[in-house]
Amino acid sequence: KTILVLFGGCSTEYEVSLHSAYAVLSHMDPARYTPLAVGITREGQWLCYTGDLSRLEDGTWQQAADCIPCTPLVEREARALLLLDGSGRRLLFDAVFPVLHGKNGEDGTVQGLFELAGVPVIGCGTLSSALCMDKDRAHQLAALAGIRVPRSHVFHSSDDFSRTAQAAEELGYPVFVKPVRAGSSFGITKVSGPEELPAAMEEAFRHDSAVILEETIPGFEVGCAVMGNEELTVGLVDEIALSEGFFNYEEKYTLKTSAIHCPARIPPEKAAEIQTAAKTIYRALDCRVFARVDLFLTPDGEIVFNEVNTIPGFTAHSRYPSMMQGIGISFGELVTRLIELGVA
Ligand code: DAL
Ligand code: MG
Repeated sequence: KTILVLFGGCSTEYEVSLHSAYAVLSHMDPARYTPLAVGITREGQWLCYTGDLSRLEDGTWQQAADCIPCTPLVEREARALLLLDGSGRRLLFDAVFPVLHGKNGEDGTVQGLFELAGVPVIGCGTLSSALCMDKDRAHQLAALAGIRVPRSHVFHSSDDFSRTAQAAEELGYPVFVKPVRAGSSFGITKVSGPEELPAAMEEAFRHDSAVILEETIPGFEVGCAVMGNEELTVGLVDEIALSEGFFNYEEKYTLKTSAIHCPARIPPEKAAEIQTAAKTIYRALDCRVFARVDLFLTPDGEIVFNEVNTIPGFTAHSRYPSMMQGIGISFGELVTRLIELGVA
């Protein structure tokens, strides 16, 4: 089978995607699959890439001579890439693995494009991807499924912002100000008083047209890897140990003052409860193939939903593959299982 692997993307998480795609491409079983690597530039141009994989890691792939502009053929059952070099050549593939994070990739847009053409997508579909990218809608559906969610207020760019201070007061400081749709903590500020609110709102609105103010949940963040369609496999539950602030972009990728414990340092019964909650949320949001469910665990042992990442970070050190390695599934085997679930 030829698997179209998409990387990059018009997203603030472009660079994270290059690292994830490098890991996926280098762990794909060559006896089973032929990868067809296509990078999407920050500007949105699609380039078929046949160069060295190390140039994804160092970010220089786009300067390589081995890039040919291309476009997916959106004809029913076409499953082809059209090379735009004037040759009229089409490259055929069997399924697409979007290894894209954030907007224009993890949010249902790319999934919709391929669904329209009848191409199997390795990962969540359009609806689920769009819902999980939207922190507000995801919370509403998780709450309907009986899961506790943070109290919050949503503001749209056309709203009257004079109510933000009152909303933050109601939630209690410190309050989180987040773009409704973004990833890797871009645009998120932990606000400790009303004087910091305007700048935080402005920063969040740079990333999206809607902003969510969320109460701070005491305790710490935990995550759970879920894989499957009808039958679900859950990985180990992990734990983010923070020494200050919150798990922002820098911390996520440098772990300077924080650490990830996998498995989490919690009793096995609590981990099992978190795994059950993660499965409930995965189903409530119509996920398929794979997703990482992030939650909070309070000092009282209460589980509170945070968000779902439908294309979680996928580098060799990322949380999702580590949680799966913890139950005996190697990175290579994981990639095979995801592809098989995606084409099923
Ligand atoms: N959004 C990043 C990639 C993650 O959640 O892992
Ligand atoms: Mg995220």
